[in-house]
Amino acid sequence: MPTFRSEDIPDLHNQVILVTGGNAGLGYETIRQLISHHPARIYLAARSRPKAEQAISDLKAQNPTFNGLRFLQLDLASFESVKAAAAEFLAQESRLDILLNNAGIMMTPEGLTSDGHEIQFGTNVLGPALLTQLLLPTLRNTAKLNAQARMVMLSSAAHARAPSDWVYKFDELRTPAANRHTTERYTTSKLANLHYAKALAERESRVKIIPVHPGMVATNLHHASTGTFLKPFLYAAICFATPVAKGALSQIFAAVSPDANHGQYYGPIGKPESGSKLAQDHDLQEKLFQYVQSELAEYVEPIA
Ligand SMILES: NC(=O)c1ccc[n+]([C@@H]2O[C@H](COP(=O)([O-])OP(=O)(O)OC[C@H]3O[C@@H](n4cnc5c(N)ncnc54)[C@H](OP(=O)(O)O)[C@@H]3O)[C@@H](O)[C@H]2O)c1
Repeated sequence: MPTFRSEDIPDLHNQVILVTGGNAGLGYETIRQLISHHPARIYLAARSRPKAEQAISDLKAQNPTFNGLRFLQLDLASFESVKAAAAEFLAQESRLDILLNNAGIMMTPEGLTSDGHEIQFGTNVLGPALLTQLLLPTLRNTAKLNAQARMVMLSSAAHARAPSDWVYKFDELRTPAANRHTTERYTTSKLANLHYAKALAERESRVKIIPVHPGMVATNLHHASTGTFLKPFLYAAICFATPVAKGALSQIFAAVSPDANHGQYYGPIGKPESGSKLAQDHDLQEKLFQYVQSELAEYVEPIA
């Protein structure tokens, strides 16, 4: 069984790291564990400035000698915000070693992003894809200096529950998809995370692209969830979840280990997995990737 411990995190000298959703849960914990390995800078991207500032203040208190922690304003539910975040980052940095697409929402009430997409799909899939593609040229340049430069995408074991009769009804992703249960919308978004990362990996030769799922980890992910039965169920289930210090190691492995391979999907901790039958459906993967390219075309050069 592969294993990876916090002590296995390599030296990160000179490296520039961007973690989305860095103010809480797995994102915060990932930054907390990486910070003592001497990166040049870590960008904590978050949609809420007060929450980000609180997280930065806590992290600084634990690491008083580290001066490289920066806030990046980012709302993944808005293409304009993602574009502005990428521009803000690129105005300050010419290097990006690790892009960790960690932020996400789970089983929330129905809604739409600013751009009119189903809220979970827009936040979990389209926003991270746009951020990735806006920063990909910089990741590629960095790969000339650091062959370990990479993008990590958070999926979920729950991707295996994505409903085959809805994957992918792209016209409905331009609606709140109210006819679908919130669990179906979440699992579909996490399947799409996996399809997107695998499709990008097939096209990318310089930057490592690594999808990962952390197992069930005790974070706040369920707090914004909805449903008379679902919400209490999630609150009960979290009592049996992995503590966040250990839970974050799956994505930390994907983000920093030289043993994490390009295009491979990993589960806890560093275990190669193949994903569900739908996840392995190459035609579906391609359809998803082309759909994402068409939705982002106004904001970034599509990838063929
Ligand atoms: N925990 C698990 O068991 C589990 C299992 C499988 C996969 N995952 C995945 O792991 C990732 C991290 O989740 P977590 O468990 O750490 O949950 P969490 O504690 O709720 O953290 C999620 C983070 O994403 C941020 N976020 C949400 N919407 C955003 C938006 N529109 N723009 C920017 N940031 C946004 C949140 O910001 P706010 O604080 O402002 O809400 C928060 O920082 C997610 O992608 C999730 O799907 C988690």
